[in-house]
Amino acid sequence: MPGLGIVTGGAQGIGLAIVKALLDQGVVDRVAVFDLQPEGLTHAQRNVTAHRCDVTDEASVRAAYAELGEAPKVLVNNAGGGEVGTVAPGSEPSAAFDPFSAVDHFRRMVELNFISAHVVTRVIGPEMAAGSCICNTSSIAGQGASPLLSYGAAKAALIHWTQSMARALAPRHIRVNAVAPGIIRTRLWERLQPDDAAYEAMISETMPMAQDQKPVDIAHAVAFLCSSRASQVTGEVIRIDGGLTLR
Ligand SMILES: NC(=O)c1ccc[n+]([C@@H]2O[C@H](COP(=O)([O-])OP(=O)(O)OC[C@H]3O[C@@H](n4cnc5c(N)ncnc54)[C@H](O)[C@@H]3O)[C@@H](O)[C@H]2O)c1
Repeated sequence: MPGLGIVTGGAQGIGLAIVKALLDQGVVDRVAVFDLQPEGLTHAQRNVTAHRCDVTDEASVRAAYAELGEAPKVLVNNAGGGEVGTVAPGSEPSAAFDPFSAVDHFRRMVELNFISAHVVTRVIGPEMAAGSCICNTSSIAGQGASPLLSYGAAKAALIHWTQSMARALAPRHIRVNAVAPGIIRTRLWERLQPDDAAYEAMISETMPMAQDQKPVDIAHAVAFLCSSRASQVTGEVIRIDGGLTLR
């Protein structure tokens, strides 16, 4: 019996594709989007509600959750990104690439890309029933050394937490998984590399299949992990990177 999904950071990019995939594939029949900028949800679909929320702020998450009045069957902790900076020629060196970046920057990146998942799950998780599931959006940056130091460290912690939570929540029959996307030209990468030609050159040089990835490629994996077809899958991290990390 389909139920409610909550997708954080679901107003655009990968999150929006996840919202559509969960609905299109019948994993849930309605979705609540928790987003800092819910007005980004321009083509609001039927059965989608938008809730302004800062996932790093427990009071804000509690207020958004109180607007719903029911626990979700699926929770996707997807909001993330933050101060990744830019590699555009002539730009200021970005703190995200600085091994000695200011502690405040490092803290904010860990807050958004890791601790926020705990904040949201701490508020919502206790009310989730047996048979429900959680999926976290990590990154290949969290699966090995990354030039994005603060971001990579936070995404690595998110993977570790995913596995520990899967173990902790198994007795309650709640599954916890993650996805690790590669490079997708959402707003995150539009900021990192604003030059379309340079971005395309990077894709053809670094991607083994020389193909761009799309948000829907990640969304399909999330929908699978949250579906009954994955009822025995927990503590798993699915890497969706077009073979990028095989190099
Ligand atoms: N784009 C990529 O190449 C890529 C690769 C690996 C992982 N990821 C991860 O995928 C997830 C989605 O990223 P995206 O590429 O779609 O980025 P995006 O910038 O297009 O979308 C991020 C969404 O999160 C929301 N958000 C940001 N901070 C928030 C906060 N504090 N509270 C609530 N909502 C907040 C934004 O408003 C936005 O709607 C992120 O966790 C990101 O780290 C992206």
